[in-house]
Amino acid sequence: KPLVFSGVQPTGNLHLGNYLGAIKRFVEMQATHDCIYCVVDEHAITVWQDPFELRRQIREVTAAFLAAGIDPKMHIVFNQSQVPEHAELAWVFNCVARMGWLNRMTQFKEKAGKDRENVSVGLFAYPSLMAADILVYRATHVPVGEDQKQHLELARDIATKFNNDFSASIVAQGHNAEEGYFPLPEPLTQGPAPRVMSLRDGTKKMSKSDPSDYSRINLTDDRDAIAQKIRKARTDPEPLPSDVEGLKERPDADNLVTIYAALAGTTKEAVLGDHGGSQFSAFKPALADLAVSVLSPINDRMKALMAEPDHIDAVLADGSERAGAIAGKVMDDVRDIVGFIQSR
Ligand code: TYM
Repeated sequence: KPLVFSGVQPTGNLHLGNYLGAIKRFVEMQATHDCIYCVVDEHAITVWQDPFELRRQIREVTAAFLAAGIDPKMHIVFNQSQVPEHAELAWVFNCVARMGWLNRMTQFKEKAGKDRENVSVGLFAYPSLMAADILVYRATHVPVGEDQKQHLELARDIATKFNNDFSASIVAQGHNAEEGYFPLPEPLTQGPAPRVMSLRDGTKKMSKSDPSDYSRINLTDDRDAIAQKIRKARTDPEPLPSDVEGLKERPDADNLVTIYAALAGTTKEAVLGDHGGSQFSAFKPALADLAVSVLSPINDRMKALMAEPDHIDAVLADGSERAGAIAGKVMDDVRDIVGFIQSR
């Protein structure tokens, strides 16, 4: 079975974009792949995190994974910092990746803003660690939202350059010359909602860091909050079109239809087949009911899990041990390939 890896940061609120763009797909992929799902706590600290809050958020993302339906026994659920090989391989990759490559990362440019002199070195090197997360398992399939595509391209560039830079040594270690040591990981963004937009502005991504809580539906929102946020979502005055063509140039309407389709597990065409011609005053309550019916059972299970932090920590410990067993072997290979001496 092909190996899947993906990660979610334990920072701020998990929202509907994280769920539809990533976590829902994580759940689906379990049927056909071996999956490793990681709470990337080392990525989180590229921006300062309150330690007490960080610990709670690591557990909350873990609870969301489990509540959404990820099976930590059949697959692996763990937090990044418990497998030190991620950071170790990231160092090697920092020495493979070029400054110019990282300079081009749009997420860094957005997050650093104008104050480049004052962001952490970790924020700049972030994509190297992300490449290490995936490649320390030699994973090939990476379900992510569209905003992570550029980071995945960089991971492929790093894998390619590593394979080239160390080709003679890779062969000397008994690996196939053509394939190299690292596979080129593929982003899987073809889910129903790879880019969920803000409820306040259909041209902006739904994001944890948007100052307006009305811009997103959090996985921790209760029924009333979900309904209220959908009621207040920005729309235009026209009724819904009868086909997908009619959503062009109507980003807010497009976003709500996309969300509806993704939550219902159907297509935008089908949603417009049922709701084309409706006013938003009729469509929004239907969307709110659907969102509540999908999200509130997850929300209830998350709450129950959060009441048992010891259970969550035990899941992470078990997952970390199994992840570490895979990562340890890969890192042994990498040390040999690079030319380090290690006693065995
Ligand atoms: P993060 O924590 O920002 O987001 C987690 C996942 O949610 C997706 N996502 C969205 N999808 C659709 N619409 C949106 N508005 C939206 N917002 C977020 C993200 O694309 C992501 O899939 N760098 C990663 C975490 C990471 C990782 C990895 C992912 C670290 N190492 C290795 C894959 C493989 C991040 O910051 O995701």
